[in-house]
Amino acid sequence: MHAMSDVRRRYANFQASKRTLDLTRGKPSDEQLAITHPLFEIHIPRAEVPRLLNYGHIDGLPEARALFAPYLGVPVENTMVLGNSSLAVMHDLVVQLLLSPLPGLSYSWSAWRGMDRMKPTMLCPVPGYDRHHTICERYGIDMIPVPMTKDGPDMEVVRREVESRGSLVGMWCSPRYSNPTGVTYSAKVVRELASMKTARGFRIFWDDAYRVHDLEDEPDEIPNFFELCERAGNADRAFIVGSTSKITSAGSGLALLGLSQANRAWYLKALFAQTIGQDKANQWRHVQFLKDMEGVRALMREHRAIVKPKFDGVAQVLRRELTGIPGVWWEVPRGGYFVSLYVPGHAKQVVHIASEAGVKLTPAGAAYPRGIDPADAHIRLAPTYPPLEDVEFAMQIVALSVRLALGR
Ligand SMILES: Cc1ncc(COP(=O)(O)O)c(C=O)c1O
Repeated sequence: MHAMSDVRRRYANFQASKRTLDLTRGKPSDEQLAITHPLFEIHIPRAEVPRLLNYGHIDGLPEARALFAPYLGVPVENTMVLGNSSLAVMHDLVVQLLLSPLPGLSYSWSAWRGMDRMKPTMLCPVPGYDRHHTICERYGIDMIPVPMTKDGPDMEVVRREVESRGSLVGMWCSPRYSNPTGVTYSAKVVRELASMKTARGFRIFWDDAYRVHDLEDEPDEIPNFFELCERAGNADRAFIVGSTSKITSAGSGLALLGLSQANRAWYLKALFAQTIGQDKANQWRHVQFLKDMEGVRALMREHRAIVKPKFDGVAQVLRRELTGIPGVWWEVPRGGYFVSLYVPGHAKQVVHIASEAGVKLTPAGAAYPRGIDPADAHIRLAPTYPPLEDVEFAMQIVALSVRLALGR
């Protein structure tokens, strides 16, 4: 362990280098995007022009739906392949739930006040994906934070809220390699989320954004949430969401949605009012390029070869610099896009100290509703975008910033 004077000297040296580095962006690197560039060069044959370049297929091209049904773990007839962003789909679903009566019910989320006559309220596992919270904030949905454990959301809190809060309309879940904790929900948690008793209009956004984004040889497996909901008589509870943003292209990928037949009929009416069809040319190119789930997995192995050394770099620096410092811990993820570092009482200070040496970090608290982390502990690190050497350089500054904040 280095003495504090040594920590200060090393920090000053880094500061003097005047480099600026950014660990805020959970997005693919240029090198990753290069892998999928050939997809966007695929030529549309003349014979396919009438089918692909005209209106139609409001819920996606049939062969794209067939390709992505096993990805989502739902039957083809329950699969939709939509636009370029799953966030846009989740946003639209929330707006539609707020505005139009729910399947089988006579009222919308907005008209639903429950016995306690409060605003519609959603459960938000924390730390979580900030844009889930942004959607809630924007539309006046109250948020109840649910602490994450190593097995997923704390089910005692979920149970208590579901049983007692009449205004509870839904829950956000990032079930696999969760953003930002990297936690994969345990089978027990998944089963209980599918089978617990809730109000009829209650919906779970099963945001499986990191479905195939493994960093280890043995992927984390979880039970099929859609099937479990169906078996428990709760088929309408689940919106299974995914996208190819971090498979093919963030921005020119495809959004995927799995939903029950009742939800599908309901959502088709909303789609009918807003579009005449999907971008079938892009969907077709994706099918030619990926072919099947094995194609998806093969591509993800290429991504992994690029991103894994960066995650290893983060873990190595944290281990070397911060092992044994009381009250500091981090989670080494087995997949996904983030590493979570916890420095209770000092997260804001660490982010500030790192910024003074040129390292930009996601604002402390960003992964909590309204940006408030009551313990001021959580720091989200996103190592995929910068080159490996920059990740290691930036992480040394982060580690030294932790030690300066703690004075140890
Ligand atoms: C949990 C989660 N859901 C959704 C998204 C956004 O996905 P898309 O690019 O499909 O909108 C992200 C991106 O970081 C994410 O982490």
